[in-house]
Amino acid sequence: MGITIDLTGRRVLVVGASTGIGRATALALGGGGARVAAVGRRAGLLDELATALDGGLALPADLRQETECHRVVAAATAAFGGLDAVLFPIGSSPLGLLARTDAPTWTDTFATNVVAPALVTAAAVTARGDEPGLFVYLSSSAVGNPVHGLGTYAASKAALDHSIRSWRLEHPEHRFLRLAVGATMPTEIHREFADDLLGELLPKWASSGLVTADFMHVDDVGAAIAQATALALGHPGIALDELTLNPASTPLDPAGLADLSAHAASGQRPAAATGQRSDGAAGQRSDGAAGR
Ligand SMILES: NC(=O)c1ccc[n+]([C@@H]2O[C@H](COP(=O)([O-])OP(=O)(O)OC[C@H]3O[C@@H](n4cnc5c(N)ncnc54)[C@H](OP(=O)(O)O)[C@@H]3O)[C@@H](O)[C@H]2O)c1
Repeated sequence: MGITIDLTGRRVLVVGASTGIGRATALALGGGGARVAAVGRRAGLLDELATALDGGLALPADLRQETECHRVVAAATAAFGGLDAVLFPIGSSPLGLLARTDAPTWTDTFATNVVAPALVTAAAVTARGDEPGLFVYLSSSAVGNPVHGLGTYAASKAALDHSIRSWRLEHPEHRFLRLAVGATMPTEIHREFADDLLGELLPKWASSGLVTADFMHVDDVGAAIAQATALALGHPGIALDELTLNPASTPLDPAGLADLSAHAASGQRPAAATGQRSDGAAGQRSDGAAGR
């Protein structure tokens, strides 16, 4: 007997949907029958996504602004007549050693990864009142596993994790799922990584044992998150608190490590390699990366 994902009639707000895991998740949710409202800063990408989704809604907004967090929840709620789930694939990941990280970088990272999800959650919790809701946050396997250059990012995800536990305590009528994700490609999370610093850090990441020989394809991860959302919505009496998605992969082997080191020494990113989606289609991946 096959099991199909059925999200017909479900109304979902995806916060951070213009690219990467959020976009792939939004498409998978829409494919399962959900109505999807998509938030991000880049209006053009959201318009394309909304066009691809049947009945999709594009909500361009910079969620580092408090008023925008309230506005997107109000707009999605008004358009769909309510929300069944809010997903948070929003994220910013600066690359920088702590001694060289300035205050604006710390502030911006926490504004994006911690404060925005908290304010959107608060708006949605207020809008729902006592009616149970589902909230899904994208955390990282980097929490608790410090690697050079990702300290600011991992600290923000650790703060996000603690906020999730606090939400569960203060609002037991709702469900809050922490979904930790390992290395996933292709996405835009590395778009501001400086190549020279990446080259400096890759050997340190490799020796940490956190670098895997393969990545998850973003479309697989999006499909898995949509399925997890359907699972949770289909079983309202079950609190699905934690889920971890990591590459089914061995650590980098010596040959891979040597290749990584060679690229690191030259300060160049390793050449793009071809990953495989579960359905066999090819996908691009960019650089060796610890799970972010
Ligand atoms: N890729 C990985 O290996 C990996 C591993 C572990 C965890 N994660 C987590 O997975 C989530 C998705 O990451 P990704 O790899 O898919 O990265 P991504 O492609 O960069 O996606 C991040 C999304 O957040 C949106 N966003 C960023 N700042 C925003 C702001 N101020 N206001 C509104 N939207 C904003 C971006 O859209 P705009 O730029 O248009 O605003 C984009 O849609 C993140 O939480 C990330 O930390 C990723």
